[in-house]
Amino acid sequence: MTTDLKDTAAGEPLPARPLLAVDDLHVRFDVRGQDVRAVNGLSYTLAEAETVAILGESGSGKSVAAQAVMGILDTPPARVTGGSVRLRGEELLGLPERRRRQYRGDHVAMVFQDALSALNPVFTVGDQIREMYQVHRGMRRRAATAKAVELMERVHIPSAARRLGDYPHQFSGGMRQRIMIAMALALEPDVLIADEPTTALDVTVQAQIMRLLAGLQEELRMGMVLITHDLGVVAGVADRIVVMYAGSVAEQAPARELYARPAHPYTRGLLASVPRLDRRGAPLVPIRGTPPDPAALPPGCPFHPRCPRAEAVCAVVRPAPVAVAPGHDAACHFAEEVHRAGDG
Ligand SMILES: Nc1ncnc2c1ncn2[C@@H]1O[C@H](COP(=O)(O)OP(=O)(O)O)[C@@H](O)[C@H]1O
Ligand code: SF4
Ligand SMILES: [Mg+2]
Repeated sequence: MTTDLKDTAAGEPLPARPLLAVDDLHVRFDVRGQDVRAVNGLSYTLAEAETVAILGESGSGKSVAAQAVMGILDTPPARVTGGSVRLRGEELLGLPERRRRQYRGDHVAMVFQDALSALNPVFTVGDQIREMYQVHRGMRRRAATAKAVELMERVHIPSAARRLGDYPHQFSGGMRQRIMIAMALALEPDVLIADEPTTALDVTVQAQIMRLLAGLQEELRMGMVLITHDLGVVAGVADRIVVMYAGSVAEQAPARELYARPAHPYTRGLLASVPRLDRRGAPLVPIRGTPPDPAALPPGCPFHPRCPRAEAVCAVVRPAPVAVAPGHDAACHFAEEVHRAGDG
């Protein structure tokens, strides 16, 4: 679907400068003297017009990391203690709040799980969409209204012009999610971060919203970071998948490659625990145990207490990412072996 490689004169592919680069990001919370390590050395990149899915169980640090990228973490209690977030090469961490605000909306926008709490209940949706254009683009009310109608039509809200005067609670869950997507896209950001955008919706509406997002991403050529705990949501949408575990990357690979040849025992566990069309009839095996407490991460590999492949070294030495194929790496001491074993 997309490429992040450019051909050099010599014909050797060189990685293009990524649109978004998160490098060794660390976020901690001080909770009553406890040091909660929510994000623990997260690194990933996003290319122009690419969709990267960030997949991980609840509590793995997906939302905290996204909020750090957006610059909307509450500090305190959160603290970004290390790493870098660059957009087209410019470092965002440590920018003064005024500059940071310009980036939000204009360059990086976010869609949340729960539109009802993200939208303001006391203003009509028309007011809220118009405000984006009035504040960020200095438009007059009439022009902003025209843009708001256009945007609501773009996300397929029936009778858009008439519904501008309605309040968020007057829309269904799916329609509210469309409105939040519309607001995020208003200023045509380079990067859209969608944090579990369909989790609160029923299955049919989930599929509609995913199709809408995928279509808009393609049309606007945005980079999209799609955060989910649900492997089913990313299938067919993501170009690449980043599997997060305990605040860092367990494995990342092009989507098809990750499904076909996972190189990390955690990813294998995830794949074995969900029904798959291509493996009808295969027994579902849940991953044993529970994710680690970020206030008490185990030494060595964070997955070792649950890992069926673990050996003595795993409890002592934290594995570094190992490249097993182009664009495919896994943080496991035995990544190459697991990768060779293929699927299942
Ligand atoms: N406000 C907070 N105060 C203390 N700890 C928090 C707070 N928010 C998140 N955390 C910690 O960060 C971890 C990761 O949270 P989060 O990023 O929301 O997980 P995910 O989105 O992957 O489900 C949580 O398990 C929790 O321990
Ligand atoms: S490093 Fe060891 S414990 Fe961690 S995933 Fe690999 S085999 Fe399992
Ligand atoms: Mg979350």
